[in-house]
Amino acid sequence: MFFNPEKVLNIEDLRELARRRLPKGLFEFCDRGSEDDIALQHNRTTLQSIKLRSRVLNNTSSRHTQSEIFGERINMPVIIGPTGPAGFVWYRGELALAKAANKAGIPFALASTSNTSMERIINEGGGKQWFHLYIWRDMEASLEAVPRAKAAGFEALILTVDSTVPYNREFDVRNGTSFPVRITPRNIFDVLTHPRWLFGTAFRYVLAEGHLPKYVNINIPENLSASSLKNFLFKNDSLNWDFLKKIREMWPNKLIVKGVMHPSDAAKCLEVGADAIVVSNHGGIASDAALASIDVLPEIKREVGDRISVIVDSGFRRGSDILKGLALGADAVIIGRATLYGAAAAGENGAYRALDILQKEILRTMGVMGLTNLKDISRGHVVMPHEYPL
Ligand SMILES: Cc1cc2nc3c(=O)[nH]c(=O)nc-3n(C[C@H](O)[C@H](O)[C@H](O)COP(=O)(O)O)c2cc1C
Repeated sequence: MFFNPEKVLNIEDLRELARRRLPKGLFEFCDRGSEDDIALQHNRTTLQSIKLRSRVLNNTSSRHTQSEIFGERINMPVIIGPTGPAGFVWYRGELALAKAANKAGIPFALASTSNTSMERIINEGGGKQWFHLYIWRDMEASLEAVPRAKAAGFEALILTVDSTVPYNREFDVRNGTSFPVRITPRNIFDVLTHPRWLFGTAFRYVLAEGHLPKYVNINIPENLSASSLKNFLFKNDSLNWDFLKKIREMWPNKLIVKGVMHPSDAAKCLEVGADAIVVSNHGGIASDAALASIDVLPEIKREVGDRISVIVDSGFRRGSDILKGLALGADAVIIGRATLYGAAAAGENGAYRALDILQKEILRTMGVMGLTNLKDISRGHVVMPHEYPL
């Protein structure tokens, strides 16, 4: 079964290819949210409920998606966000994502729980790269990645602050999914019935390295059991603003704080000297009772204005969604699952296809809206549900 980009018409098609290729436990880990998947669905329904206004007879024949982040040009206002399992869904999946981003002319953010060394991703992936940092239970050990990321040449550091307690993902428990991926009696049937993943990804790592992929960019104790590792990694409820200040002092390049959902927190990030915030509910994973990030984007933008770059994510699957984010004040949109599905379906080609689809959808929708340049998009281009009928 060969990947044929022409048969993939939208992100949902890539999701379906990913579903077929990955073991169910791994697919659900990538696809689902937490608890009852309410926040995951709310991200989508909220974006879908926002409408775009169209304008006519504007000669939009020369429209383009070029944009800027931190004063530098990017080919479209989209960033591939950090997704921990990229290297598990495809052999060297992080490299596939970095190369796809580079080819599309947009930034790529490498997750700290990745399986390929950050130095290799920088050297072979090329383009604009950001490093993402989670703070673990052992704060000092987590910070060891900061000077390493600086030396490797990452242009920005994304500190994710919304994941201080383990996520409540009951389906992972039921599926027997743990990370780094292990093959156990609980998931052996699932793995054996997905031979394309087993031979194309898992066996390739074993042949190349003698073992399944490990975390290579973070300093964690050897030989922890799966449950102690989860608690070790995904718990740091003592994180505070002083810690953010410390990171600001340590990191001279652009600093991005990801997971901000309240205007007062956005203002504090500005005060501490962050260069950008990501308005995000972690793709519906952090809390199933979360507001959609697009719900809070306008009030956050009102609070911080243009004094800090504002990026948004969670639930963006169409070019029109991206235009809604821009119209409500974002400078750019992070996508997580869209390119992760692409990488799971067909590595670099699949991830690139996701970006190509989104760019074409943006361009098409700009034509309908009478826009030639994304700089001209504004609040007047969207109508919120409480505003219609007009
Ligand atoms: C499977 C998966 C793994 C993720 N891993 C990380 C991570 O390691 N660090 C992080 O800050 N965000 C992580 N995220 C969140 C994404 O960076 C991003 O915020 C989110 O996926 C955006 O929503 P979307 O998937 O609907 O586009 C992950 C998301 C998914 C789906």
